[in-house]
Amino acid sequence: MPTPVIIDCDPGHDDVFALWLAAGNPEIDLRAVTTVSGNGYLKYTTLNARIALSVAGVEGIPVSAGAAAPLQRELTPADWIHGENALGGPELPTPTVPEDPRTAVQLIADTLKASDEPVTLIPTGPLTNIATFLMAHPELRDKIKEIIWMGGSTGRGNVGAYPEFNAWVDPEAADYVVRSGIPLTMVGLNISHQALITEEVIQRIGAIGNTTGAFGVELLRFFCNSYNEVEGMLEGPLHDPITVAIAIDRAVATVQRAHVDVETKGAFTSGATCIDLHDMLGKEKNVDVAITLDVDRFWSLIVDAVTALD
Ligand code: RIB
Ligand code: CA
Repeated sequence: MPTPVIIDCDPGHDDVFALWLAAGNPEIDLRAVTTVSGNGYLKYTTLNARIALSVAGVEGIPVSAGAAAPLQRELTPADWIHGENALGGPELPTPTVPEDPRTAVQLIADTLKASDEPVTLIPTGPLTNIATFLMAHPELRDKIKEIIWMGGSTGRGNVGAYPEFNAWVDPEAADYVVRSGIPLTMVGLNISHQALITEEVIQRIGAIGNTTGAFGVELLRFFCNSYNEVEGMLEGPLHDPITVAIAIDRAVATVQRAHVDVETKGAFTSGATCIDLHDMLGKEKNVDVAITLDVDRFWSLIVDAVTALD
C-alpha cells in the first residue's frame, strides 16, 4: 500500500523535485502540500508549490500556506541560492492548481483526521509549520507515523560555519520538533551533498522529453549556477527529495541513531544541530540521522518520477 504523506515545503528548486518525486512515485500517496516561508517569502513559496504541481500535471492535491515568519525570529530568505522569487531560472507559468483557503495547520489536521492510517510528515524547509501544528494539535500526534526532515548537518553548515539553512531560519521550531518524541529521521547536509547534480543527471532528465523534465533542467541549471557562485560547487546538492526517497525505500540511505540537540542560544552557532554520533553524552538517542546515500538508486527514482509526470 502506498505511504500517505504530507509535504511541508519552501519551494525552492530542490523542494520542487521532492514534490515531483512524491507525486510521480507509486509508493507515495501525496495527500496534501503545505508551504512555509524559508527559501522565499510565503507568497513565493506558496505560488511556487502550486506551479510545481501545475507544471507536472498533478491535480487534486490541496496546497495551503502556513507561516509567513519563524516562531520568534525575522525571516532571511535564501535568495542567494534560489533567487528573488525563490524559483529563479525558468519563466514561471500561472498555476492551474489553486490555493486551498485553509491554513497549513488546518490542512494538516484535516488530512490526519481523514486518514485511516498514520501519515508521514515530510518537511523540506524550516520547521515552523510542523512545530506550530504539534503545539496546536497534541491530540493528533498518534496520527503521525514519523517525520522525515531535510535539515541540519553532522558536519559544517551552509549558513555561516555550523547552522544548516532550514534549522537556522527557525531554531526554536527545530528544537521543538527534535524534542517532540515523534519518530524523526534527519536528512542533513552530510548526506544531501552526496546527491550532486552532475551534467549526466541533467542530461538524463532533459532526455525524458516531457514538460516536467524540461522545466526541471532549467531549475537544475539555475540551482547549480547559484551553488557555483556562492559555494564554488559546480554540482549543486539536491537536498530535499532525499526525504521522499527514504519514505519510498528505506534502503536508499543508511541511518545512525543518535542524540541530537538544536542550538538556540549560540551567538555564532544558532541553528546548529549538535549530533552526538559517538554517544559521548550518554543522552537518549532521539533521531535517526541519515548518513550515506545510494546515489544511483536516488537518481533513478528521480528520473522515473519525472518520467511519470506530464
Ligand atoms: O540547506 C538546504 C535546505 O535549505 C533545503 O531544504 C533548501 O531547499 C533550503 O530550504
Ligand atoms: Ca527546502
